[in-house]
Amino acid sequence: MQHIISIGDFDRDEIDSLLNHAAQIEKKKYDTNALAGRILAVLFFEPSTRTRMSFESAMARLGGTSLSVGSVEACSMAKGETLADTVRVVSGYADAIVIRHPKEGAARLAAEFSTVPVINAGDGAGQHPSQTLLDLYTIRQSMPVEGIEVALVGDLRYGRTAHSLASALSLYNARLHTISPKGLELPATLAAQLKEKGMEITEHDSIDEVIGDVDVLYVTRIQRERFPDSASYFNVASSYRITPELLAGAKKRLIVLHPLPRIDEIDPRVDESPHAKYFQQSRNGVPVRMAMLMQVMK
Ligand code: NCD
Repeated sequence: MQHIISIGDFDRDEIDSLLNHAAQIEKKKYDTNALAGRILAVLFFEPSTRTRMSFESAMARLGGTSLSVGSVEACSMAKGETLADTVRVVSGYADAIVIRHPKEGAARLAAEFSTVPVINAGDGAGQHPSQTLLDLYTIRQSMPVEGIEVALVGDLRYGRTAHSLASALSLYNARLHTISPKGLELPATLAAQLKEKGMEITEHDSIDEVIGDVDVLYVTRIQRERFPDSASYFNVASSYRITPELLAGAKKRLIVLHPLPRIDEIDPRVDESPHAKYFQQSRNGVPVRMAMLMQVMK
């Protein structure tokens, strides 16, 4: 039984072959009944639009069905049931579980109690492996991932998409530039692990310092829901914004990615720019998650 909890569960060859499979799927080369009769349980304890709907869309396109309890308030967790019990029960109703939870480590715990494969769709400030796979897929559509220079911008402390992506990029000899408000830097333990793997990471005060050098500008939202109080959020809110003027100094091949939702990090005028790939990125969630679902349920 194969769980997908962290991007570290994959080596580079495994990532590449999954993304090759996703590319075939995108060209409509797949069996629309590949997962007929299979059921995916969608267990989301945090808001989601893209991740949830693209997993459900992926399942439907493969002939399968998705089940969910609806809102957290509507399920027995609200009566005090433990996550372990919920997962034990739900794994009796489905062939795989995709879970999102506000606590780091929740997906790993779920996997311990599940009798079917578990996919982590975001565990607090931890990991978000399916997002990283679609991020890499989107990069590959524009350029080879090997050796690229990537600027990670925004909330690198609480942003799980940034954590997973940084780890994955270390497999491709990428160079990392980080730009974040004070206090929201990449966690020191993660930065140390990446450096140990030979990754070069440089911190910068502003995006202007690197805009001419980078191939990917990966922008993230300040993760307001992880802040201890609203005052500390408002201290750092709106501290950076990607504009067409900023992008005027970029390399021709630079792509702007954002896992979305965006608040005010990207000026809507950027949407028309050939650099903007974030809506393409969100669409890529479907073929990539189709490949993931086939991998864990076939
Ligand atoms: C991200 C998440 O939930 O971590 N969203 C997503 O899955 N596309 C990013 C975010 O919420 O800021």
